Amino acid sequence: MELTNGQYSIQSIPVNDITQEFGTPVYVYDEAVIVRQIESLRKGFSSVNLRIKYAAKALTNLSILRLMKKQGVGVDVVSIEEARLAVHAGYTPEEISFTPNGVVFEEIIAAVNLGVAINIDNLPTLQKFGERYGNQKPCSLRINPGIMAGGNYKISTGHLQSKFGISIQQLSQILDIVKKFDIPVSGLHVHTGSEIGDLDVFFKVADVLFSAARNFPALKFLDFGGGFKVAYKPGDFVTNIEDLGTKLGKAFNQFCQEYGQSLELWIEPGKFLVSEAGTLLVKTSLVKETPMLTFLHVNSGLNHLLRPMMYDAHHEIVNVSNPLGPQKKYTVVGYICETDTLGADRLLNEVREGDLLAIKNAGAYGFTMASNYNSRLRPAEVLVTNKTAKLIRKQESFDDLLKNQIDL
Ligand code: LLP
Repeated sequence: MELTNGQYSIQSIPVNDITQEFGTPVYVYDEAVIVRQIESLRKGFSSVNLRIKYAAKALTNLSILRLMKKQGVGVDVVSIEEARLAVHAGYTPEEISFTPNGVVFEEIIAAVNLGVAINIDNLPTLQKFGERYGNQKPCSLRINPGIMAGGNYKISTGHLQSKFGISIQQLSQILDIVKKFDIPVSGLHVHTGSEIGDLDVFFKVADVLFSAARNFPALKFLDFGGGFKVAYKPGDFVTNIEDLGTKLGKAFNQFCQEYGQSLELWIEPGKFLVSEAGTLLVKTSLVKETPMLTFLHVNSGLNHLLRPMMYDAHHEIVNVSNPLGPQKKYTVVGYICETDTLGADRLLNEVREGDLLAIKNAGAYGFTMASNYNSRLRPAEVLVTNKTAKLIRKQESFDDLLKNQIDL
């Protein structure tokens, strides 16, 4: 979203035109931003044989999955339903890797039957996988490196107390099972956390992966997961992809030499690819002055964008209707009947009832974490592609709320 001559636009389409056509609240995604992000990863990691596996959970709309596929980006899924969506979007099973966490073994079987690559994150599942498939099916292993990293505790997944992955401290147990059943291990994987601010984390994790990898002679790839940080507000730390790609690529190539084979380097970005591409457009329902604060109530809330309440995440908010008005301080809240602050103490250009507000950086984990709380409808989604705004999901209707209910 750009501000030029006092008007916000996306790919030169005035944001007002988009809401006039599709209403509010609405999630709008800018294809050009996604393509730019993909290109920057490819450029940063140009020294290695890179495979990008988009972490679909960030935003699973079929049109987004198709866009990724068209750009030559693979996909990482975490549920059989996401796997089926990816197939529906045109992915071949080989392009899909399945990284579930602690699911019943039937789900693993379903994924094997679908033909997707299986990434195993616990010892009981590895045991069952060996018993059932012996040396007939390859898999990769999600390792928990025992490293604390990530924007906050809830999104840190690689530390010793996290439920994710097989602890690196259990390597000998992994090796026993792999040997017993002769399981062809094709890759090792880590996902240490989301919004990793410190590049050193990636190098520490790489050391863990490299040293574990020496025990597996037939690897095809090492997967470093996602977690690349984008800016949520001006001045925010961001993962310097060029720096990371150059340094990690160098260490990786050196490892491949010692290992005696040229492996693929996989990454699984979610936020990095789609966060900045997305904007949630909402309307100001009313301006409420209290003795303490001025609240802006909008026609949305934590049911559409959970991140501020769930993670204390900061999303920039701008007044699209009055971008040059004098600045005032507001607290932007939703219509949900519990506290659902979208932005506290924000300086916005003067907001009047009916003004259109844009909540930025809402592409990742926005719509996919939305709910029907308070029996509100989930919003429409729009993709701006080649300077045209296209509806890619209708707003839900009241019938959707009734659809699966059985009226006794
Ligand atoms: N790979 C795996 C196995 C993951 O579990 C995740 C995210 C990713 C890749 C992508 O991480 P990213 O590049 O997006 O940081 N709902 C939270 C984020 C949860 C991330 C869960 N796993 C949020 O809105 O901040």
